[in-house]
Amino acid sequence: MDHFLYKDGQLHAEDVALEDIAEAVGTPFYVYSAATLTRHYKLFSEALQPLPHQVCFAIKSLSNLAVLKLLGDLGAGMDVVSGGEYLRAKAAGVPGERIVFSGVGKTREEMKLALTGGIRQFNVESEPELHALSEVAHWLGLTAPITLRVNPDVDAKTHEKIATGKKENKFGIPISKAREVYAQAARMPGIQVVGIDVHIGSQLTDLAPFEAAFQKVAELTEQLRADGHTISRLDLGGGLGIPYTRSNEAPPLPLDYGAMIKRTLGHLGCEIEIEPGRLISGNAGMLVSQVIYVKEGEDRTFLIVDAAMNDLVRPSMYGAHHDIVPIVEAAPGAEMQDYDVVGPVCETGDTFAKSRAMTVLHEGDLLAFRSAGAYGAVMASEYNTRPLVPEVLVQGDHFAVIRPRPSFDEILKRDTIPSWL
Ligand code: LLP
Repeated sequence: MDHFLYKDGQLHAEDVALEDIAEAVGTPFYVYSAATLTRHYKLFSEALQPLPHQVCFAIKSLSNLAVLKLLGDLGAGMDVVSGGEYLRAKAAGVPGERIVFSGVGKTREEMKLALTGGIRQFNVESEPELHALSEVAHWLGLTAPITLRVNPDVDAKTHEKIATGKKENKFGIPISKAREVYAQAARMPGIQVVGIDVHIGSQLTDLAPFEAAFQKVAELTEQLRADGHTISRLDLGGGLGIPYTRSNEAPPLPLDYGAMIKRTLGHLGCEIEIEPGRLISGNAGMLVSQVIYVKEGEDRTFLIVDAAMNDLVRPSMYGAHHDIVPIVEAAPGAEMQDYDVVGPVCETGDTFAKSRAMTVLHEGDLLAFRSAGAYGAVMASEYNTRPLVPEVLVQGDHFAVIRPRPSFDEILKRDTIPSWL
């Protein structure tokens, strides 16, 4: 459930008409609902009760400071994958003890930043990374709490570009090698083993692959404890999928996911950490755009809109589907037409939808891409020198621009022409 509903024929985010935001901010823009973000965070937190747990929002999905502050104030921790994301979490007021650091290529600089600024744990993904972390921590006279991310060789049955838990993927340490690497870790200066980490992929719409992976983690927990390690935390990653179409998708709910976690891991007495991104932010955001032209092709009609692949790359990158709805509610039985919805970027890949049946639209009409809160704004670029789309946060009947659209002046000023030209 989200808080984007038609009221009096106008699409609203909570109690604010999107048309009012469009008038104030211009299009395109991203808009997020504070109530939806809050609701989704709480669903996870409640689903894990009564186990001791920490929900760490995967900020790669949506990293605006206002969103992080909102979630952080509710008690959320953060899952970060770069020094930049770490600094975002801190700038939003999230204490180090609620931040976990994931990612296959953490640099020594990033390790130092997190060790000195405070960190709940590093999720270490390889032996060379473990050696580097030991060196950095030892040199600083500090101790790095760690889990090892194990790769359970489980097929997540999701898009190949976002599956991470098979042995051919670059992520984690093969689970068959885990005991050996834990033994090494226990002997290293500056390293303190605290648990196990696993993340098998994103947009999973079935609990079975999660369960298979978590069962392997349960077995490994017993083995590692028998080997003498302290395993007090299990970080289970993120990945729970969301419905991208209103009609025919019903992925498992956080409550089902929580019940499965309790069933497979509850007996171990560990603190459970999860790193959901998309399920918290995805359906909490929309991208609002305006029709520039309706162009009649030879055998199709193109709806040329002012958002493009640089603003929302998921359709061109993953062939992802986003529902597209008009801001003015269609009358019952209104005439429908098939459109190819495209942006102004000079690439055929700049296509949001093909032959999409929509109510008849005209130049100047506003429309919204649903489920765009996750991996939308964060993956945007300035390709074709198109300014990054602004972000707006709605709460109740008020809204605020939480990242303004940069001016062309600001964009051009970032380049420097060397004196010798
Ligand atoms: N934890 C780790 C270690 C991850 O790599 C990810 C996502 C998450 C948590 C959060 O997963 P989520 O709950 O959001 O599924 N750009 C792609 C998705 C990439 C996901 C990368 N890792 C997309 O637009 O679908």
